Amino acid sequence: LSILFVTSEIHPLIKTGGLADVSAALPAAQRALGADARVLVPGYRQVLARLPQARPVAWFDHPYVTGQVELRQAHLPGRDVPLYIVVWDAYFNRDGGPYQAPDGRDWPDNAFRFGLLSHAAALLASNANLLPDWRPHILHCNDWQTGLAPAYLHYLGGVPTVMTIHNLAYQGNFDAGLLEPLRLPPESFSLHGLEYYGHLSFLKAGLYYADWLTTVSPTYAREIQHETLGFGMHGLLWARRERLTGILNGIDVREWDPAHDPHLPAPFSADHLEGKQVCKRVLQERLGLAAQANRPLLAVISRITYQKGSDVVLAITPEILRLGAQVAVLGAGETELETALRALATRYPGQLSVTIGFDEGLSHLMEAGADIFLMPSRYEPCGLNQMYSQRYGTPPVVHATGGLADTVVDANPENLAAGTATGFIFHDMHYATVLEGVRRALDAWQERPVWRRIQQAGMRMDFSWEKSARAYLDLYQRLLAR
Ligand code: ADP
Ligand code: GLC
Repeated sequence: LSILFVTSEIHPLIKTGGLADVSAALPAAQRALGADARVLVPGYRQVLARLPQARPVAWFDHPYVTGQVELRQAHLPGRDVPLYIVVWDAYFNRDGGPYQAPDGRDWPDNAFRFGLLSHAAALLASNANLLPDWRPHILHCNDWQTGLAPAYLHYLGGVPTVMTIHNLAYQGNFDAGLLEPLRLPPESFSLHGLEYYGHLSFLKAGLYYADWLTTVSPTYAREIQHETLGFGMHGLLWARRERLTGILNGIDVREWDPAHDPHLPAPFSADHLEGKQVCKRVLQERLGLAAQANRPLLAVISRITYQKGSDVVLAITPEILRLGAQVAVLGAGETELETALRALATRYPGQLSVTIGFDEGLSHLMEAGADIFLMPSRYEPCGLNQMYSQRYGTPPVVHATGGLADTVVDANPENLAAGTATGFIFHDMHYATVLEGVRRALDAWQERPVWRRIQQAGMRMDFSWEKSARAYLDLYQRLLAR
């Protein structure tokens, strides 16, 4: 079974969020199960620089301008995953992020950049025999950046498509005038097609034309069929609910393993937690927090956005500090929130640390050195950090939404008695309820034997990719059998 997995980011080449982790780990897990999964990515500057040995394997006509687009092949560093790279320097070989310029604004030619990525995917999955020696049986698309692929393929004819929704809020909606330059037929611009409130929507194209839809957690699959979290797509998602499945993400348990993590000053495990104390001390030192072992340390690692509840973190942090805890925040995102968090930190030297930026190593050390992880997302398609934190003996405090609800077992009396509790779940996104969740965690932290059981239950959870990778393979087989 061969699968082409098309994505706009992949760890360790280019990453803005969890999609990059999934794009590396899921195909690798499928390959471990014997499937021939390969990945298609844009030839960003960061990708070309890391893979100078990539070799040209095919050329195809540029769909929008005159010229030949090159396809190169390489291997994903550190993994047994073949990679195809769409090389068109005018679109991808530039300084800045995958979606945004250094000034934080979306690239003005995003429709063409990701239109080209989608077009390349559709060609590879069509009958065009673009590659002499390989053809996928399934095309697996991810988020709006790849949403046009099922639409192109609908007209080209080819293999079945799966569209995975990692975040419904990002939709890639563009001016309707782009329909023709993007070489989409006029009839596709319809309610039954890729039209979305007068715009051309990449995401809606994927949701409408793909043969099957998945979300990255079962709860999110249900939530998006309703107005509150449907971001305007709930009608379509409800209509297609028989072809919509939630498959929970896994995590890379090799890269996120406190017993063998090169980013940590001391290893630890469920049965030997001593090293975690060392990590906490080193973390406190590194962040300029008072080196107090007897003060609980709360960590927040996320994009700084409304989705992640960063505004709530900002609002309740003074209260958390007043309850006697330290707080460490790592993230990047909306400038206003970043500035406000930074300003807050100057008021609480030694107790509150705010690091703005993207720092992989520090994120590992924070997962390890903190006592409690706070993740008050308003919505969360899956979320990875709450799984990382459980694995690192850092019980999370989370909102009961999406993948958070599916991966954390609340420390209520029943679960505590059964020894299954792994974290703390609150049900409303009000300052008071979030704080109540934090307070429950702080109280439990004081009772060492109770805390240890919660830590150990979390550390023993199986978040590995194998089960999910199997679920995707089953889904592909069902599609091929239809
Ligand atoms: P999302 O994809 O919505 O941002 P996820 O929880 O799925 O949320 O994935 C976030 C990923 O990005 C995790 O691997 C997390 O550790 C990482 N991450 C987020 N912000 C930072 C940061 N500032 N520094 C380092 N890693 C970060
Ligand atoms: C998105 C979601 C996040 C999910 C990730 C990987 O970025 O916001 O919840 O974990 O994709 O699927």
